[in-house]
Amino acid sequence: MIQSHEGNQHDHNLLVTGGAGFIGSNFIRYLFEQTDFSGRLINFDLLTYAGNPANLQDIQELYPERYVFVRGDIADAATVKAVFRRYDIESVCHFAAESHVDRSIKSPDRFIQTNIVGTFQLLEAALSQKAFRRFHHISTDEVFGSLGHDGMFTEETAYQPRNPYSASKASSDHLVRAYANTYSLPVTISNCSNNYGPYQFPEKLIPLIILNALEGKPLPVYGDGKHIRDWLYVTDHCQAIWLILTRGVAGETYNIGGMTERENLYIVQRICELVDELARPDADRPSSELIRFVEDRPGHDRRYAIDFTKIRTELDWQPREDLDSGLKQTVEWYLGHRDWVNQVRTGEYRTWIKDHYGEMK
Ligand code: NAD
Ligand code: DAU
Repeated sequence: MIQSHEGNQHDHNLLVTGGAGFIGSNFIRYLFEQTDFSGRLINFDLLTYAGNPANLQDIQELYPERYVFVRGDIADAATVKAVFRRYDIESVCHFAAESHVDRSIKSPDRFIQTNIVGTFQLLEAALSQKAFRRFHHISTDEVFGSLGHDGMFTEETAYQPRNPYSASKASSDHLVRAYANTYSLPVTISNCSNNYGPYQFPEKLIPLIILNALEGKPLPVYGDGKHIRDWLYVTDHCQAIWLILTRGVAGETYNIGGMTERENLYIVQRICELVDELARPDADRPSSELIRFVEDRPGHDRRYAIDFTKIRTELDWQPREDLDSGLKQTVEWYLGHRDWVNQVRTGEYRTWIKDHYGEMK
């Protein structure tokens, strides 16, 4: 169990935005199950296609006094202010965002509204609270742009976002820093690499490949498959966020990464092996035969890699899960949660898959 520090954050009113999404719901579960957090948590989420309150049904039932769900839009000033007042919000952990790069390329509007305007409305509301302690903003390594063969992103790397999603996240980071500098709002920011694990919406690479392999569908790999991401198991990210929220220094930024750089093709092949081993032991042909190289993502960033020396040395954090154990747990989770998968694959999801990939032979 992670203990929070003296003068700590364990018994206060915490607003989590986007807590019905992938990382947000894992974070809330982590807080209730693995930390000494004893305050009240308000999960404020619009429930877009990516949000699913069923992710936290058991938490709702186990902690009816301490867990509150409010459906609303972070870009709606009146609702945001009302929630801050009603629940006397003292800290914010801000996950809510439009988060899928491919969707931002096809329709950027919602990304501007939610990621930029929404963050602005939350900052304004936080500023108007009397005893406000901390605004923690969850950001991404994508704000730094694309790396060549060498080097890693540090907290000092200049911003160079290259797609509408990362540009909207970079804008929100700038707003958060501006509120700290101009109005002395106590903020922290974390920039994290690619997460994977339970409850990830199946339009992102890892769950998409797991489910397509299980169902014998084509496995789409963009371009030459040699793009590199730095993968982090989601619970390790949640632990880092809780450490920053409780022990991080106001005004500081922390990079979070997995030290697990892999080409996309490697990830896809590894998932194929795991699916074959765990779910198709008697199959005639390996799932890897389903791999299809498809048209590349426009402006596709080639390589991300995070240097997380700062959070390791200052907050004593490092990832616990390695890629093999993390991927195995993830494949097992999707195998054991077919009802969840069926529930999140709404009509809207099916339309996206058809529009985006067309007919793959
Ligand atoms: P997600 O898409 O799974 O979840 C986003 C959540 O935000 C959903 O529950 C959705 O309903 C909610 N939401 C969207 N618009 C909203 C609005 N206007 N008002 C209120 N709620 C709204 O995203 P995720 O993968 O869990 O990412 C969470 C955060 O972490 C994002 O800020 C993202 O930029 C950041 N991040 C993600 C990764 C990753 O690999 N997934 C890595 C680094 C950083
Ligand atoms: O780096 C952090 C970012 O990671 C987060 O900020 C984003 O919110 C999150 O969605 C994720 O972005 P990516 O674009 O890296 O994730 P995605 O799962 O969409 O893609 C991972 C890699 O796999 C990327 O190089 C594109 C590639 N890809 C993706 C899909 C969906 C494929 O080759 N085929 C696919 O079908």
